[in-house]
Amino acid sequence: MPSLVRLATARDAGALHRIAALTFPLACTPHTPAAEKDAYIGEHLAESAFSQHLDDPARTILVAVDDASPELIGYSMLTRGEPDDVAVAATLRHHRTIELSRMYVHPDHHGDGTAGRLMAATLAAARESGAAGAWLGVSDENVRANAFYAKHGFEQVGRKQFRIGNRVEDDFVRERQL
Ligand SMILES: CC(C)(COP(=O)(O)OP(=O)(O)OC[C@H]1O[C@@H](n2cnc3c(N)ncnc32)[C@H](O)[C@@H]1OP(=O)(O)O)[C@@H](O)C(=O)NCCC(=O)NCCS
Repeated sequence: MPSLVRLATARDAGALHRIAALTFPLACTPHTPAAEKDAYIGEHLAESAFSQHLDDPARTILVAVDDASPELIGYSMLTRGEPDDVAVAATLRHHRTIELSRMYVHPDHHGDGTAGRLMAATLAAARESGAAGAWLGVSDENVRANAFYAKHGFEQVGRKQFRIGNRVEDDFVRERQL
């Protein structure tokens, strides 16, 4: 059976932490030290952080599931509102905007259509929110994710910095109309 996508609930916070901890390092550059990745996971991807996000009316979290796995196989997160980052705010063309702030799929499911189904449901939720455009930041070294986002209509419109610990890394800003 192909994977299914549903809205996350408060009961998913622990499983969201587990899939996020497993997949976040895949989005990092090869130069990002393990200690910085671990600290980021501990601070931003903890179960308690997901519980807060699930309670936040400005956020929507979707999860991908399949019959073969008791664990989540992917998740996305949308964050409503204009961006705080001035470089991003100056770049975006479509308002109101919404950020696709997370898009992560278990590596066993890369290339099997799970990410496409998760993206379709996420874009539908973004449209339902009333936004006219969606944007995201992605490492300029993440070739696979950039190809995936381009395939789903996100054009490269600028650059921004991503802070992880004491490091500053370079992200592309991508945006699409909804
Ligand atoms: C980003 C992600 C959700 C995309 O899901 P996916 O199942 O891998 O995506 P798809 O296979 O549909 O699309 C990836 C595309 O990149 C292509 N690709 C893969 N490796 C590539 C490479 N080294 N160079 C160029 N293209 C590449 C694939 O061929 C595919 O294109 P195609 O469908 O035209 O053949 C998933 O890879 C993921 O979770 N990655 C780890 C976490 C991450 O980086 N998240 C994004 C954070 S911003």
